Amino acid sequence: MAKELTLSIIKPDATRRNLTGKINARFEEKGLRIVAQKRLWLTAQQAEKFYEVHKERAFYRELCDFMISGPVVAQVLQGENAVARNREIMGATNPANAEKGTIRKDFAESIEANSVHGSDSAENAAREIAFFFSELEIVG
Ligand code: CMP
Repeated sequence: MAKELTLSIIKPDATRRNLTGKINARFEEKGLRIVAQKRLWLTAQQAEKFYEVHKERAFYRELCDFMISGPVVAQVLQGENAVARNREIMGATNPANAEKGTIRKDFAESIEANSVHGSDSAENAAREIAFFFSELEIVG
């Protein structure tokens, strides 16, 4: 399969505990390349827009509040089958169900404070990457 891009976010629970480097090492050790990265503090409006697909879900408000509780690191990861690969590296959404050796098993605090977000399809990856980055900022 050709090289693919996916969007990753290191969430506020992880930036608060200074885990950015440890999480980035997981991506790099497992064959993904960080081809764009920025640290930012989302506004409520930006968080609501990013998670718009979950608007009707019971956890939407809390999710948005959590995502603006501290800085995040948005990044574009590149590699073979990057969307699926990143989902393997992250582990299940709920850390209680995540496999040993995954980011969420090792670092996440709860289903909400689960340390990382990753795109769930190539189509969503394209939309999510465009939300944070311009083409000029992605250097493969
Ligand atoms: P993420 O990959 O960022 O996508 C949506 C987020 O909603 C998810 O990770 C979780 O952190 C958060 N979330 C909170 N509660 C739930 C829930 N009950 N089911 C799924 N996701 C949840």
